[in-house]
Amino acid sequence: MKQELLIHQETIKSRIKELARRISSDYSGKEPVFVGILNGSVFFFADIAREMTIPLKIDFIRAASYGSGNSSSGSVRLTKGLEIPVKDKPVILVEDIVDTGLTLSKILDIITEQSPESIKICALIDKQERRKKDITIDYCGFQVEEGFLVGYGLDYNEQFRCLNDIYKLHFEK
Ligand code: IMP
Repeated sequence: MKQELLIHQETIKSRIKELARRISSDYSGKEPVFVGILNGSVFFFADIAREMTIPLKIDFIRAASYGSGNSSSGSVRLTKGLEIPVKDKPVILVEDIVDTGLTLSKILDIITEQSPESIKICALIDKQERRKKDITIDYCGFQVEEGFLVGYGLDYNEQFRCLNDIYKLHFEK
């Protein structure tokens, strides 16, 4: 298995600063609930939350998805739900990578049931090739067409999560 450097940590840092500026300006005067989707978003979440110039509340959710191999099936349940009430509050969901979009679309349905004022999505990576659900990513770090990515929170069977840069994995046949 080979790793090809795709996004350098300095590029990630400066993109996060830009996103945080935009979000802080869009939510000026508000205090959104910033919701990290565990585990993949942890480093992205921690870095972008600290670049924001508005007050935030933070919470986390964790979803279990029943899929096969490297693809999710869309059968999703929360193994950890929100602990902060979000009724009538603006919510920003923070995700590592959107692939088929099935996981995020189920999470959106579940959170919508709690009647927040609004829900927006902030995703580090928008991976477009296998998209099955039409999802609007309001704040997107990087768009990639395809490939399996690791590092900066992204894992392959729990490996590579703690790398500082993002790599594309090449599987040998
Ligand atoms: P989706 O439901 O197909 O959009 O899957 C989203 C989830 O699958 C992400 O939150 C990741 O946990 C995982 N995932 C999808 N693509 C990758 C990847 O390239 N690297 C690591 N995890 C991925």
